[in-house]
Amino acid sequence: MGSVYVYVCGGLSAIGNVFWGLLFGYDIGVISGILTMPYFRKEFPSGPAKEGSIVASLLAGCFFGALAAGYLSDRIGRKYSVLVGSVVFVVGGILQASSTTFAQMYTGRVIAGLAVGELSMIVPLYQSEISPKEIRGRLVSLQQWSITIGIAISFWIDYATLQIDSPQQWRIPLWIQIVPAIILVIGTFFLPFSPRWLVDHDRDEEAITVLANLRSKGDRNATVVQEEFREIKETVIFEREIAAKSYWELLKVGPENIRRRVLLGVFIQAFQQLTGINAIMYYAPQIFSNAGLADNSSRLLATGVNGLVNMLATIPAIIWIDRLGRKPTLISGGLLMGSSMIIIGSILATHGTKYFDESLGKHFVYLDNKGSSYAVIVFIYVFVASFAYSWGPTGWIYPAEIFPLRIRGKAMSVTTACNWLFNFVIGLVVPILLDSIIWGTYLIFGIFCVLMAAAIYIFYPETKGKSLEEMDNLFGNVQKSKNLEKNEGELEAA
Ligand code: BGC
Repeated sequence: MGSVYVYVCGGLSAIGNVFWGLLFGYDIGVISGILTMPYFRKEFPSGPAKEGSIVASLLAGCFFGALAAGYLSDRIGRKYSVLVGSVVFVVGGILQASSTTFAQMYTGRVIAGLAVGELSMIVPLYQSEISPKEIRGRLVSLQQWSITIGIAISFWIDYATLQIDSPQQWRIPLWIQIVPAIILVIGTFFLPFSPRWLVDHDRDEEAITVLANLRSKGDRNATVVQEEFREIKETVIFEREIAAKSYWELLKVGPENIRRRVLLGVFIQAFQQLTGINAIMYYAPQIFSNAGLADNSSRLLATGVNGLVNMLATIPAIIWIDRLGRKPTLISGGLLMGSSMIIIGSILATHGTKYFDESLGKHFVYLDNKGSSYAVIVFIYVFVASFAYSWGPTGWIYPAEIFPLRIRGKAMSVTTACNWLFNFVIGLVVPILLDSIIWGTYLIFGIFCVLMAAAIYIFYPETKGKSLEEMDNLFGNVQKSKNLEKNEGELEAA
C-alpha cells in the first residue's frame, strides 16, 4: 500500500508539500529574531504593540487566505490552488525583503499571509485525499515536520545573519524565504490531481490513472485501485443526491451531524493556538530573556536550539500517530504542556524581579538565580517538545479527516481560518501580555492546555484507521449507509 510514490507525492521529498511546509514554517519563525535585530529596530522602531502588529499582519492575511481557499480548491482544484498560493507568496516575500516603510512591510506581510493561509488549507486537504487511510496521519505529520524544519532553519539563519553589521542583517533572512516558494511554483507542475476532486468533476478516467500510479505502479486493474475508485465514486454519487454545496450546510444538524463535526474541527484548531505555542515561536528571544539570558546572541542561540527541539520531537508523531491514535496523543500532550507552562509561570512569579529594558522599550523579568533560570529554559523545551509530538500534527490531521467530501473544502477552509484567527490574536496580544502581566501569560496558557486535554477526553471521537468514507458512520450517520447500499445496487445493475 504505502508505496514510495505516495510518500513522494504526499509527504517527504514531495515536490510541493515539503517546500510548502518549509515556507510556512520559515515565515513563522523568521520574524522572531528579526524583531530583536539592531538594524531592524533602527529602521522600524517599535514597542510591544507595533511588534505585535508586524507579526499579526501576516496572520490576518492567513485568515483571509484560508477562507478563500475553500472556494478556490473546489473551483480550480487542489493542484492549481497550490500554484496560485506560491506565486502570490513570492510577491509578498519580495515586498517584505525590500521594504523601507511600515506601510510596505505590512502590505508584504498581508500578501504573503494570504498565500500561507491558502496553502495551509489546501495542502492537508490534498494530502488526505491522495493517501491511503493507514498512513494518512503519518503524511500530515510529515507536513508538520517540514513546518518545524522551516522554523528551525529560520531561527538559525537569524542567528547567523545577526553577525552581519549592516541592514542585510534582517533583509537576507527575508529574501531567503522566497526560495522555497519558487521551488514550489516549479514543483506543482509535477503533482498529480487529487483523485477525489477529479471524480467530483466527472473526470473518472484520470482519477483511475492517478490512483493506479499512487497505489499499484500504474496497474489500472489492480484490486486496490478498483476498490478505492468505487468507494470514492459511490460517495460522490451519494453526496450529489443530497448535496447543496453551500456554506449554510456547515450549520446543519441532520443525520450526518455536520454541525458537530464543524464545531469539533473549529475548536481543535483554536485550541491548537491557545496552547501558547506561538507565544514561544514568535517571541522566543524575548522569552529567553525572561529566562535570564542576557545578550541577544545567546538568546538567538537558545531560540535555535528551540527550533531543533520542535523539529526532533515531531518525529515520534510521524512514526506512531496512526498506531497510538489521536485522542491519547492530544490528551497527554495537553497535560504535559499545561504542567510546563504552570511551572514556568510559577518560577518567574516566585524568583523573578521585574525591570524595564530601555533599549527594547518594555518590561522583563530578571532571574538572578542560575538554577531557576535553567529550569525555565528546560521547561520551555519540554513544552515545545510536548506540542511537537501531539497538538502540532494532530491539530491539522483531525479536521482533515472528519468531513464528507461534499463539504470538505468549505469546512476545512473554515476550520483552518479559525486556526489563523486565534494565531492572529496570540501574535497581537502576547507582546502586550509579556510586557504587562509577564509570568501571568504562562499561567493563562497552562490553564488552557489542561482544559483542552479535558475537552478532548469528553467530546472528541477517535478517528485513527477510519477511511474518509467511514467517518460518516463514526459520527452516527445511519441514513448514509442505507443510501450507499442502494447506490451500490444501482451501480451493479448499470
Ligand atoms: C501550528 C503553528 C505553529 C507550528 C509550530 C503548527 O502546527 O499551526 O501555528 O507555529 O505548528 O511548530
